[in-house]
Amino acid sequence: MTGQLEVAGLTKRLAGRELFAGLTLTMAAGEFVAVMGESGTGKSTLLNLIAGLEAPDAGQITVAGQVLNGLDDQALTLWRRRALGFVFQSFHILPHLSVGDNVALPLRLNGQGTLAASAIALEMLGRVGLAARAASMPTELSGGEMQRVAIARALVHRPTLVLADEPTGNLDPDNATRVLAFLAEQVREQGAMCLMVTHSHQAATVADRVLRLANGGLHAA
Ligand SMILES: Nc1ncnc2c1ncn2[C@@H]1O[C@H](COP(=O)(O)OP(=O)(O)O)[C@@H](O)[C@H]1O
Ligand SMILES: [Mg+2]
Repeated sequence: MTGQLEVAGLTKRLAGRELFAGLTLTMAAGEFVAVMGESGTGKSTLLNLIAGLEAPDAGQITVAGQVLNGLDDQALTLWRRRALGFVFQSFHILPHLSVGDNVALPLRLNGQGTLAASAIALEMLGRVGLAARAASMPTELSGGEMQRVAIARALVHRPTLVLADEPTGNLDPDNATRVLAFLAEQVREQGAMCLMVTHSHQAATVADRVLRLANGGLHAA
């Protein structure tokens, strides 16, 4: 799925502080944008707002023509399942499911049958070099492998938009480089948009464009 992201007039107050004041962001279909910024500037909150996990005080978020504001919780949940992939710093892999079942989960939640979901998940795991680990449990994997599983899970249902919050924050430099290469390669192959928050200038080099979050708004880096 392709389409653009449009964030207009985004305002968010948290704990009596105006975190964003009329923040604007436009991403073209298939664009990879990195956001950098000091700790506490609201990078994670921005991703949560775009994911519809938090509500803004004002402003509008449109993803591939779908206006998120005003959708009720159920509609938002369905939209997220279909159109969104999320990669977190701490992986968020479910420990009681096998690697293959973790990756198949978004497909299962979207109504795919078990066999089809498993086959597609296996193919996706192959793309991040982990087909041989499908039957493994997450505890058997290294941090770098866990994050590659998380990337496979974030992309397996071919989302319009991938949000990544410090995806290499818990990895050593070698694994960080490898994980970023997989993320950028798979996002581009699918033509998805990716908005990635990172502390790392090196990580930001995989992006088409780098922005800095400061003083409640996004600025060219
Ligand atoms: N649920 C919340 N209630 C109150 N303050 C919050 C909440 N979540 C985040 N904050 C505050 O909002 C600011 C932005 O947080 P966050 O988005 O996590 O920043 P970043 O990801 O850039 O480090 C921080 O000052 C944080 O303490
Ligand atoms: Mg954060």
